[in-house]
Amino acid sequence: MKIVVLAGGLSTERDVSLISGKQIYDALKKSGNEVVLLDVYLGYEGDIDDIFALKKDWGESIERISDAAPDIEGVKALRDIKDGFFGPNVINICKMSDIVFMALHGSCGENGQIQAVFDLLNIKYTGSGSLSSAIAMDKTYTKIMFNAYDVNTPPSFELKGPDDDRKTDFPCVVKVNSGGSSVGVYIVNNMEEYKKAVKEAYKYDDHVFVEKFIKGREFTDCVIEGKALPIVEIAPVSGFYDYKNKYQEGATIETCPADIPKNLEKKIQEEAVKAYNALRINTYARMDFIVDEDDNVYCLEANTLPGMTPTSLVPREARAIGKSFEELCQWIIRISLDKYENK
Ligand SMILES: Nc1ncnc2c1ncn2[C@@H]1O[C@H](COP(=O)(O)OP(=O)(O)O)[C@@H](O)[C@H]1O
Ligand SMILES: [Mg+2]
Repeated sequence: MKIVVLAGGLSTERDVSLISGKQIYDALKKSGNEVVLLDVYLGYEGDIDDIFALKKDWGESIERISDAAPDIEGVKALRDIKDGFFGPNVINICKMSDIVFMALHGSCGENGQIQAVFDLLNIKYTGSGSLSSAIAMDKTYTKIMFNAYDVNTPPSFELKGPDDDRKTDFPCVVKVNSGGSSVGVYIVNNMEEYKKAVKEAYKYDDHVFVEKFIKGREFTDCVIEGKALPIVEIAPVSGFYDYKNKYQEGATIETCPADIPKNLEKKIQEEAVKAYNALRINTYARMDFIVDEDDNVYCLEANTLPGMTPTSLVPREARAIGKSFEELCQWIIRISLDKYENK
């Protein structure tokens, strides 16, 4: 099969995406596919006629770019043509493939825009469609859908602006609407911290909301093909699951399957499937949860393109049911192609 692994882009999660992309590229090649790893923003300037047969290690060249230019302005400077988002030949190469494996994360690729473009151009891709991706990227709309479909989520209200000083209980969580990787998530304990967090949050996003802080244990669960995988418990060694604790080795203890009673496991898995259906997600997604001391399960959000390095959470969950990383990649391709068959 001819597969394009699409990675990189201009979101704050660019580096994570490049690492996911390289691993997916290697895994799909091992499984006997013809694979091109492409940076969605930088594209490829050479002759593309035989691009799937080229014996060039695209993975290595992508990794070098990430090392040399981790900052977004630096990435932009690498491309001569400034107009438009897609890099040279990206659309043409994607059109030559049987399917595009979406290894993008964050605002770029996870918010449904690329999916909408691909739908109009008849380019097949892995993962959810444009509408569910867009809703899942928007935490306020996610919570509206959760409430409508009876998915338990912490109570919240949206702020009217940076000077909105509505009363709230402490501790509480100030969050930007379209964040990711915990960027723009602040746990605050008093008015002073609250005001500072609100100001800071509006630098990232035009929409900011305040959520009830839930004291408890944190879990995450992937739903794939409508079924929940074994749950991971996430326990940062110190503080909450912020950017540093997400990506620094050893900063967080992740246990899969989570060491919890069967009835709680079932409750979280049922809630994960409910959240998946509420957002009309298809193929796969990873839902984040906090469970309080009375075993109330709160769904925080859905990630429609979760991290895909072999040590990421979804590959760990797949391993717990005996699926290797290669098998998981092939599984995602198969269910994503099925989506088009059933149309
Ligand atoms: N209501 C909450 N109560 C307690 N902790 C929270 C709450 N909301 C978020 N957190 C903490 O912040 C982290 C990031 O929040 P989340 O809503 O999942 O945003 P992101 O999209 O950045 O992952 C969570 O993994 C959790 O550790
Ligand atoms: Mg999260």
